[in-house]
Amino acid sequence: MTTYRIALIPGDGIGRDVTAAAWSVLEKAADKAGFTLDGQEFPWSCAFYKQTGTMMPADGIETLRGFDAILLGAVGWPAEVPDSVSLHGLLLPIRKSFVQYANIRPHRLLPGVKGPLRSEGFDILCIRENTEGEYSGAGGRVHQGTADEVAVETSIFTRTGVERILRFAFEQARARRGKLASVTKSNAQKFSMVFWDEVTRKLAGEYADVEVTSYHIDAMAARMVMAPESLDVVVASNLFGDILTDLGAAIQGGLGFAASANINPDRSTPSMFEPVHGSAPDIAHLGIANPIAAIWSGAMMLEHLGEKAAAGAIMAAIERTTAGGIGTIQGKDRTEAITAAILAQL
Ligand code: NAD
Ligand code: IPM
Ligand code: MN
Repeated sequence: MTTYRIALIPGDGIGRDVTAAAWSVLEKAADKAGFTLDGQEFPWSCAFYKQTGTMMPADGIETLRGFDAILLGAVGWPAEVPDSVSLHGLLLPIRKSFVQYANIRPHRLLPGVKGPLRSEGFDILCIRENTEGEYSGAGGRVHQGTADEVAVETSIFTRTGVERILRFAFEQARARRGKLASVTKSNAQKFSMVFWDEVTRKLAGEYADVEVTSYHIDAMAARMVMAPESLDVVVASNLFGDILTDLGAAIQGGLGFAASANINPDRSTPSMFEPVHGSAPDIAHLGIANPIAAIWSGAMMLEHLGEKAAAGAIMAAIERTTAGGIGTIQGKDRTEAITAAILAQL
C-alpha cells in the first residue's frame, strides 16, 4: 500500500481546528481509496515561540524536507508575538526554502453558497508568485525614531522568478479556458512591473493559443467584483496576489472557502497546502471556523500527490454538504458539524 508522509503544522488560533478537521477527512478519504497517510505533527506556532524563543527549531526546514507534503493551518497571534516575527520565522521561510514559487488559489462558488455579490457564474484560478517580489524582505530603517526616519522596502523581481511564474500561469490557462490575465501596476511602478509586462509579452509569443491581457491591479480589483465571470487564470506578484485572493475569497462567500496550494512544480522539495485565511483571533475560541478552506486545501494536496480519485471524492463530499445547506453561511454552523457532514458525505 502506498504511504505518504505528511508534516502537519496546525499553528495558531483556528489553524488548529481547521487542520484537525481536514486531517479527519483526509484520513477517511485515504482509507476508502486504499492508501495511507502517515502524519507527523509539529507544534511550531506562536505558543512554541513563547516557550523556546523560535518559531521552529534551527533544523526545522531540514526536518520538513523529508516529507511528501506539508499541511498547515495558520500562523500568527499578533497579541503576543509580532507578525513580523512569527510569519518570517515559519510560514514565509518554508515557502521560500522549498521554492514553492507557485501559489495556486481557486475562487469559485460551491453549490448552495451565496457570495455577497453573486450566487453563481465564475471560476477563477489565481496564481500568485510566492517567493520574491514585495516579500523579499530587503530594506531597512535609518534614523529610527527621529523626525528624519526613512524606511525602505525593496521589491526584488528576478528574470528567473518572473519567467517561471508566468510560464506556470500560461500552462494553467492552456489547460483551462485559454485566458490569462496578468496583473501589474506598470503605470506607477517604473521598473519591476514594466519588466513583468515585458516578460508577459515575450512569453505570449510562445503560447499563441492563450489569450493574454494585462491589467492594472486597481482595475483588476474592480473587475473581480463587477465581472468575475470574465476571468479564467489570473497571475500576479506576491503582494498583489495576496490582496486579490482575499478579494477572491470574499466573492466566493468568505475566507472560510478559499483554499491554497504552495507548489514547487519541479517536485524536488515538499509542497505546502493551507487555507488562504489566517488564525482569526476574533473567532478563535468559538468553534465556528469554517473548515472547508482547509479541507479543500487537503484535496489539493491529494491531487498533487497523484491521488486524483480521492481528491475528487473529497470535493464531491464538500459540494454535497454545501448543496444541502450546511456550511454555506460563515458562522452559522459549527466547525464540528460541518466536518461531520462532510465525513458523512464521503
Ligand atoms: P484572518 O484571515 O485570520 O481573518 C480575517 C477575518 O476572516 C476575520 O474576521 C476572521 O474571523 C474571518 N475568518 C478567517 N478564516 C475564517 C474561517 N475559516 N471561518 C470563518 N471566518 C473566518 O486575517 P487577519 O485577522 O488579518 O490575521 C490574523 C492572524 O493570522 C495574523 O497574525 C496574520 O498575520 C495571520 N495570517 C496568517 C496566514 C497564514 O498562516 N497563511 C494568513 C493570513 C493571516
Ligand atoms: C497569506 C497570508 C500571508 C501572506 C501572511 C500571513 C504573511 O496573508 O497566505 O495569504 O501574505 O502570504
Ligand atoms: Mn493573505
